[in-house]
Amino acid sequence: MKVGIIVHSHTGHTLSVAQRLKDMLAAKGHDVNLEQVTAVNEEPSSGGNTELKTIPDIHAYDVLIFGAPVRAFSLSPVMKVYLSQLRSLKGKKIGCFLTQHFPYSWMGGNRSIKQMKRICEAKGEMVFETGIVNWSHKNRERKINDVLERLMGF
Ligand SMILES: Cc1cc2nc3c(=O)[nH]c(=O)nc-3n(C[C@H](O)[C@H](O)[C@H](O)COP(=O)(O)O)c2cc1C
Repeated sequence: MKVGIIVHSHTGHTLSVAQRLKDMLAAKGHDVNLEQVTAVNEEPSSGGNTELKTIPDIHAYDVLIFGAPVRAFSLSPVMKVYLSQLRSLKGKKIGCFLTQHFPYSWMGGNRSIKQMKRICEAKGEMVFETGIVNWSHKNRERKINDVLERLMGF
């Protein structure tokens, strides 16, 4: 299947998980692209309007996996704006994941993944799987593997 992994990543955590997912899916024979959403101003403390600079096109993909960091107990504003401007996700298989600093998902991750899922599902398609990687968790590697395994289950 044609898979698009579309991420926002400022310091590289989300991107590194996405790269691993890409490699694993490619090893299974999928045709996978990893694309990044970027903003004109990537400075996290900039606040105000988020103007997108790179806006990946989703139309060619059968499967879309969106990845982003948690920012202030919310989905990163860059991913929020990107997902919100998509016209429709109808007919695609959709998965979502987040990375966050704190070790427990109730510290921003759960709230943010709900936001992400809600925006995607408002675009006409159910999300088949979600996952959260808690970067400072002592078993981070196990968490990453678990999230990758589940996101590959489309
Ligand atoms: C402005 C800002 C706010 C953040 N807020 C949270 C938060 O509420 N909860 C959390 O666990 N991590 C928070 N983080 C940490 C990031 O979510 C975490 O480091 C993430 O893995 C970064 O992903 P990236 O390297 O792909 O950009 C915040 C980071 C920044 C810069």
